[in-house]
Amino acid sequence: MSRSPDDLKSTQNSPMLKTLFPSIDALTQALQSAGYFADRRLATAVFLALRLQRPLLLEGEPGVGKTELAKALSIALQRELIRLQCYDGLEQREALYEWNYAAQLLHMRASEGRGEVTDVEREVYQGRYLIRRPLLQALQTPAPGAVLLIDEVDRADEPFEAFLLEYLGEYQVSIPELGTIRAEVTPITILTSNRTRELNDAVKRRCLYHWLDYPDRDRELAIVRAQVPEASEQLTAQIARFVDRLRHSPFGNAFQRAPGIAESVEWAKALVALDTLVVDPEVVADTAGILFKQREDVAALTHALAVDLLRSDEDEAA
Ligand SMILES: Nc1ncnc2c1ncn2[C@@H]1O[C@H](COP(=O)(O)OP(=O)(O)O)[C@@H](O)[C@H]1O
Ligand SMILES: [Mg+2]
Repeated sequence: MSRSPDDLKSTQNSPMLKTLFPSIDALTQALQSAGYFADRRLATAVFLALRLQRPLLLEGEPGVGKTELAKALSIALQRELIRLQCYDGLEQREALYEWNYAAQLLHMRASEGRGEVTDVEREVYQGRYLIRRPLLQALQTPAPGAVLLIDEVDRADEPFEAFLLEYLGEYQVSIPELGTIRAEVTPITILTSNRTRELNDAVKRRCLYHWLDYPDRDRELAIVRAQVPEASEQLTAQIARFVDRLRHSPFGNAFQRAPGIAESVEWAKALVALDTLVVDPEVVADTAGILFKQREDVAALTHALAVDLLRSDEDEAA
């Protein structure tokens, strides 16, 4: 993993990031301007990933804002967002590059047809016959560089994780016909995982790590307020309190999948569409399909539980 000073110079970009985000507060502000509300710990993790030029691995339940962070960061940094969505069976050629066989073949036919005596094999393994996939695109994005989102990496298999190591450790990849390709500008790299399985230690070692939890009530309030400004302050507060209690109540375990932030936002939009002024247990029952996407979970949200989750803070204190 040793790099000569020259290599480092060619991929260094932190001076620019330093002026953009001189402090964690400045970064928090920039993310907020891009519509993303980060708490201090998350902002610190992102700040350090930028300063240390390390990939950032975000783990957490679905719907806590992992993917959204990468999007907001690309807006805040005014960098192109390049996204690699992982899935079971994802292969290197879909992540890195593949050769454009059809074009290569055409080139060879044409050379043959013209009766040219050239080194056809060398000619067809040139950059212009290369189809660049996200990893390669990210490495070759000119200044100011890209934000690369490797989304839901836990969905890919272990060989794929092993394949990522060279990129994650050294921001470079090897292509047999072309050699080693290094980053022109270090891509800001965000990996996310819903933790459906444990990731390889070698991947984790190359990344900074942050566990992204559900937001606290105030942050959720801020998010819903920002995304559904037409909802009244009372309604927004009720939603944030209800969802927060639902996730943390002892009955929370009865649910297979707690509502994420997207569900809170959806719910607020739905309640506004229904002209709801105050949430009551009947409204909860009628709209439970927005909070939950599983039949069992909808059933687990009983009338009695809804009453309990809707009680006011004063009742709680009493
Ligand atoms: N911190 C946040 N600030 C603003 N909106 C957020 C935040 N976190 C999540 N959201 C909203 O919640 C939705 C779901 O978040 P997402 O990033 O897709 O979750 P994940 O990738 O963790 O499953 C986003 O589309 C966004 O609207
Ligand atoms: Mg996501």
